[in-house]
Amino acid sequence: MDKVELRKKVKIIEKRKEEGILLCLEKPVQSRRATTLFENVRLFNDALPEIDFDDIDISTTFLGHKFAAPIFIGAMTGGAELAKKVNRNLAEAAQRLGIGMAVGSQRAGLLTRGLAETYSITRKVAPDIFIGSNIGGAQLSKGLSIAEAKKLVEMLDADALYVHLNPLQEVIQPEGEAEFSHVMARIKETASGLGKPIVAKEVGAGISDTVAKRLESAGVSAIEIAGMGGTSWSGVESYRAKEANKMVKFKAGNIFWDWGIPTAAALYGVRKAVKLPVVASGGIRNGLEMAKAISMGADLCAMAWPLLRPATVSSDKVTEYLEETIFALKTAMFVSGCRDLKELRRSRHVITGELKDWCEIFDND
Ligand SMILES: Cc1cc2nc3c(=O)[nH]c(=O)nc-3n(C[C@H](O)[C@H](O)[C@H](O)COP(=O)(O)O)c2cc1C
Repeated sequence: MDKVELRKKVKIIEKRKEEGILLCLEKPVQSRRATTLFENVRLFNDALPEIDFDDIDISTTFLGHKFAAPIFIGAMTGGAELAKKVNRNLAEAAQRLGIGMAVGSQRAGLLTRGLAETYSITRKVAPDIFIGSNIGGAQLSKGLSIAEAKKLVEMLDADALYVHLNPLQEVIQPEGEAEFSHVMARIKETASGLGKPIVAKEVGAGISDTVAKRLESAGVSAIEIAGMGGTSWSGVESYRAKEANKMVKFKAGNIFWDWGIPTAAALYGVRKAVKLPVVASGGIRNGLEMAKAISMGADLCAMAWPLLRPATVSSDKVTEYLEETIFALKTAMFVSGCRDLKELRRSRHVITGELKDWCEIFDND
């Protein structure tokens, strides 16, 4: 690629990355009628907890790394100036709180040093935390080499490579690459040659029990379910498709706005299907929902969209949101009598309503 062509490409990428952030800030991009179904999960109140609030311990480990709280900042961005600011603020907050994060898709970072810095800023300001690199399954399918995957990891001295599996998003995205024919084979190859763990994730339509089993057999080390009920990437891309005058994609994006496996259902199915660490995500918005997810067997809980706006302001704003989340999580543990996350994972919960129907399907598999 000559210099003029490269500059043109970089400009297009920067525009796309900024558009993604701005749409998520300015337009309604959350599920419309669909929910995570965490409203169908109830924890038991314990009127005699026999613990002091201040003694509650929420520390944990994930893929061999210590986390001060079972919270993860979901993969979002990189590849533009605004994205660099977002990544810096997210990483500073994560470092302060001792939790982990992942950056957004890093394909752009392979193009120029300037773009690489929009991702590597995370490691610069957060030397001690778990950070995930990120690439799309479609890119692996289309031939991203192991050497290139290693470069992505080296760019931020990352602790794992997140591979996002986003078939719906790729179909609706105006310039999307709905090419998934070789993803499994390529994940397998990359998992054995990378020298770092691979975490497979969706982006808001959820991973099922059967997909989780296939991913486990391909050698991934953990699964982030990213289920339905939060940010709709069919929705985000439908706005972009309209702007690009791709009306067929725009209409399909609306039809599939609420497509996916509700997060609580995906969590139940995946937890039953595999022994791998499972990260609950997709529409998780507070500490009580996190407590429910952990009670259902999640190892960590990730949030993306709620942290975007604070991250455009400052790391203090991100920290504030996360501290509120931690307080609510600890409150849920206190009133259900759980001293630590092990006790929370063993705690009883009730499953009602539509979630019960999903669980029955997974139970009969
Ligand atoms: C602005 C924004 C950008 C995102 N970009 C990526 C990305 O590049 N790679 C990825 O794996 N997921 C990406 N996601 C998806 C999130 O990691 C997450 O799976 C999804 O938004 C559902 O979680 P939420 O409901 O908490 O937002 C992005 C999310 C947001 C809000």
